[in-house]
Amino acid sequence: MAGRRPHAVLLPLPGQGHINPMLQVAKLLHSRGFYVTFVHTRSSHRSILRSSGGPDALAGLEDFRYEVIPDGVAVPPTSRSSSKKKQQVSKGCVAYAATCSAPLREILLARRGGGGGPPGVTCVVYNWLMSFALDVAEELGIPALAFCTMSACGFLGSYFLEELIHKGYAPLKDEKYLTNGYLDTTIDWIPGMRGIRLRDLSSFIRTTDADDFFLETEATCTKKCDRAQGLILNTFDRLEAEVTEAIGAIFPKLYTLGPLPALLQANHAATDSPSVSTRFNYWEQERGCTEWLDAQSPGSVIYVSFGSLTTLTAEVLDEFAWGLADSGRPFLWVVRPDMVAGGGGNARPSVEDFVRRTCGGGRGFVAGWCMQEEVLAHPSVGGFLTHGGWNSTLESVCAGVPVICWPGFAEQHTNCRYACEEWGVGVELGREVRREDVSRLVKELMGGEGGERLRKNAAKWKEEAQSAAAVGGSSYENLERLAKDLSSGKF
Ligand code: UDX
Repeated sequence: MAGRRPHAVLLPLPGQGHINPMLQVAKLLHSRGFYVTFVHTRSSHRSILRSSGGPDALAGLEDFRYEVIPDGVAVPPTSRSSSKKKQQVSKGCVAYAATCSAPLREILLARRGGGGGPPGVTCVVYNWLMSFALDVAEELGIPALAFCTMSACGFLGSYFLEELIHKGYAPLKDEKYLTNGYLDTTIDWIPGMRGIRLRDLSSFIRTTDADDFFLETEATCTKKCDRAQGLILNTFDRLEAEVTEAIGAIFPKLYTLGPLPALLQANHAATDSPSVSTRFNYWEQERGCTEWLDAQSPGSVIYVSFGSLTTLTAEVLDEFAWGLADSGRPFLWVVRPDMVAGGGGNARPSVEDFVRRTCGGGRGFVAGWCMQEEVLAHPSVGGFLTHGGWNSTLESVCAGVPVICWPGFAEQHTNCRYACEEWGVGVELGREVRREDVSRLVKELMGGEGGERLRKNAAKWKEEAQSAAAVGGSSYENLERLAKDLSSGKF
């Protein structure tokens, strides 16, 4: 019997915003009877062990195993330099192919099934940027599905990057194109993305370098998904209806499973599956956030966090600090140890000192890292100032919390466009951060009429998200379809 059990090997890209969604997919497949092998890179494995307090954090069930493969990069994900980290993540995609293909092949071959060991591998689910996994799976004749951890709108924009390059829109002719209105050009030929402007597409087009690594990697890996047997996205159909329809026309085997945390909850209630940790953190969680939130009034707090990769200069940090102080609103601000660019060490103590001096009575709480989903779900939180990373955006949708978007990297501009224009849950903060804009937008979001409108829309999308994830909802149905297709191996 064991030999016939479906066996999924899952391979995330190392990175906070990538590992957790992949773990959630792994957990969902496990609950549907799959034997699971979850493959980590060594540095990622070490960071998680460090922040989670020991090997128990990675102790799997007998049929949910972790495997470690070498790093594609020399710098671990907790490197002090975030810009270096970003480069490494991207460069890593090429390096991974060189260093990880053979170990992955070994893992897949070792699990051919037979004997008393694990069942033979029946499918590979890989992060779309770890595209070497597709080559290995193809070589061994194992079906492989790409899991793209960004939004559907982000994916679709990136899928057409090659065509943008081909048509001469990117890279930019020269630096002037960044400021002369060129980025406001509307692109009318991407299906499902009416009115999209160049500035709303991936930040990687904002380069003049014909060999830009980010642009090339993103364009190539996204297009390479064409060769995969299917595509998994962490979104739900109602949220990105036109976009998922357009993607579905290109990828007949499209599985929208979002919001994954909500789907996990619904699935757990319906299947009574055993628990496997699906929340790994590269940094230690700050204690005290919940107690501080408990002491605030309902809906009064603006939560501020820029995800795991964003860096800012000391000057921009200062503008945010003054803007939050001037807003007069309570705030919980995540200041990561590596958040300020150019070295300079951990900015948190000086931010804490600033907050103590300017915001008497404990109006601000500064954390190094927090349990974001819990924070967003806390009744005291009424708004989120975010960089617009997809996980953060979707987590705010799940919590029904409106956002101020400050996009900068990758598809964050696209997420911001959809949050502000399509879903009506957000406002954008310009790239050039000025304290008066921060304070004005925070006041408006937390107390103004505009904020109220966004809050109502956010509440509506929260319900939609729950419906999609509930038994019989679109994401739940897609999970059933995915499990069935993967078990049968028919693509
Ligand atoms: C990156 C890209 O920036 C993003 O655009 C892309 O969609 C995915 O990869 P990141 O910048 O880290 O990810 O942002 P995001 O996708 O929002 O992921 C951050 C994750 O860290 C979220 O799941 C969030 O809950 C978690 N987080 C953040 C915490 O748990 N605690 C914190 O204090 C801050």
